[in-house]
Amino acid sequence: MRRLEEISMISNQINSILRIDSSSIHDQSITRRLGDEVVRRIKHRHPDADVTERDLASGIGFLSENWIQANMTSPAERNREQQEILAGSDELVRELDSADVILVTAPVYNFSVPAVLKAWIDMVCRSQRTFRYTKNGPVGLLKDRPVYLVMASGGVPFGSPADFASGYLRHILGFIGIQDVRPVYAEATNSNSSGSEKAALDMLGQWLPLEATTTAVA
Ligand SMILES: Cc1cc2nc3c(=O)[nH]c(=O)nc-3n(C[C@H](O)[C@H](O)[C@H](O)COP(=O)(O)O)c2cc1C
Repeated sequence: MRRLEEISMISNQINSILRIDSSSIHDQSITRRLGDEVVRRIKHRHPDADVTERDLASGIGFLSENWIQANMTSPAERNREQQEILAGSDELVRELDSADVILVTAPVYNFSVPAVLKAWIDMVCRSQRTFRYTKNGPVGLLKDRPVYLVMASGGVPFGSPADFASGYLRHILGFIGIQDVRPVYAEATNSNSSGSEKAALDMLGQWLPLEATTTAVA
């Protein structure tokens, strides 16, 4: 008989993972290291899942006047130049919309999110595509799905008045329709790097418990 956990994994089949990294640091990055662990644990449960990696540190465009004009023009009326201006943003929205699970890794920079992550947000918040306004307020248009939100701060406690990062990211994800946010936070990495990373892994364990290791007995 199949175990309950096995059955629930099958019914929640994950075929695609979108990973978005934003730290300017690479090899020594805490958020990237924790992100690796998130992916490892998901892949352990869903070995066939594809991972799309979007490393924002390697560059992303900013909004421009022409971009905003193109975005405000209805899709049927956009000329070729406007379609080309929006092509990069269209691609980012497509990969977001097609992911079964999303991983966002983000250090706190100057009390907020890295500028490259804000640039990505500007590219995926698209009126009539990822959100729209109704007389009852904004409605997110993307379907809900789990987002592992891996964050690290050098000193600022998450949820404190000086944290303009984690609440903002949750708000933006909700704004486009994604409510199932699973926080994995490493706090005060400057003073207690290993302790904060361990606390983050404990948070991750609520969503993706560490797999039991099977030890071969001679
Ligand atoms: C440019 C920069 C700005 C930072 N600003 C803050 C800040 O405002 N508050 C804070 O608590 N930590 C701040 N930090 C510390 C980082 O959030 C912390 O070192 C985090 O662990 C980095 O994650 P990473 O190793 O994945 O890059 C800053 C670090 C850098 C490089």
